Amino acid sequence: MKFGVIGAGQMGGGIAQVAAQSGFDVLVQDMKQEFLDRGRAVIQKSLAKLHEKGRLPDVPEAVLARIQFTTNLTDFADCDLVVEAIVENERVKADLFRQLGQIVKPEGVLASNTSSIPITALASASGRPDRFIGMHFMNPVPLMQLVEVIRGYSTSDATAQYVTETAHKMGKTPLACNDFPGFVSNRILMPMLNEAIQCVMEGVAEPEAIDGIMKLGMNHPMGPLTLADFIGLDTCLAIMEVLHQGLGDDKYRPSPLLRKMVQAGLLGRKSGQGFYSY
Ligand code: CAA
Ligand code: NAD
Repeated sequence: MKFGVIGAGQMGGGIAQVAAQSGFDVLVQDMKQEFLDRGRAVIQKSLAKLHEKGRLPDVPEAVLARIQFTTNLTDFADCDLVVEAIVENERVKADLFRQLGQIVKPEGVLASNTSSIPITALASASGRPDRFIGMHFMNPVPLMQLVEVIRGYSTSDATAQYVTETAHKMGKTPLACNDFPGFVSNRILMPMLNEAIQCVMEGVAEPEAIDGIMKLGMNHPMGPLTLADFIGLDTCLAIMEVLHQGLGDDKYRPSPLLRKMVQAGLLGRKSGQGFYSY
């Protein structure tokens, strides 16, 4: 199995890592060599951590040796499955899938790790809507059990079955849902994070108190503001925009504070500053 990943950020790197841990030959693409180098370093650190805890059957070097890195999209021609994990922007993703639809062998399956963008629209752009699907991993990929499997309007049964089996081979639990804005995971999660941000804006409580209340009171592993910083505030805003536009209900309006922080370049953990400093 040749497993392609586009995007070497926190999600693409995690997906590539888990695919390599599962024994697949993996190829990862990003726009610049420095992004690939950064992605590789994050994978290396995660593998070392898992190894130290006895949660990696292989030695880290053997897993890493199964991952190749490239800046060239044409290298993906012989991939059996390509999972895209680039910026949460419909135009940019559609443009990528238009190219991949021409490059990847006809029987290859294309998948998006998008958090919210319509799978059916991306499937149309790819020119192979029957062999297109949403394969939505959760962050951090090496630790989280779920893969949300989202069928587009024309996704074939064979494609859904193939991606479901692949998720199982990766040690994950796939759960199916249909193509609606935000699917299940982010339709439910993201309004909660947005509301926590609105609480900061309205001065309901300090960020530490908001997070503490949700952690201690509801047994959430991370408070909502810590989680928003962890996901990336740019990604959170992009998801809220899709929910707001796609469902047409003002209850999904992005918090003005979220918008302002993204405008200011405060993207959370990945930029070093969000609701907290990193
Ligand atoms: N690889 C390997 N090890 C990792 C790791 C990674 N990527 N990330 C964290 N770890 C390690 C930590 O270093 C830590 O190691 P030590 O015990 O040696 O310090 C260990 O895992 C456990 O970390 P913690 O003790 O800090 O916390 P924890 O055991 O409670 O679990 C967690 C960590 C699983 C991330 C937990 O905090 C959690 O479940 N958080 C919520 C995550 C979540 O909600 N994810 C979904 C986000 S939404 C999404 O993904 C969809 C979308 O489209 C936006
Ligand atoms: P990120 O910012 O960490 O990484 C994105 C990577 O994609 C960067 O390395 C960037 O250089 C690269 N990239 C951007 N445009 C590209 C292009 N045209 N071609 C190749 N590479 C390109 O973002 P992330 O958090 O990894 O999110 C990636 C995707 O996964 C988004 O669609 C996001 O919604 C989704 N997602 C994110 C999370 C999360 O918690 N962050 C969880 C599940 C799904």
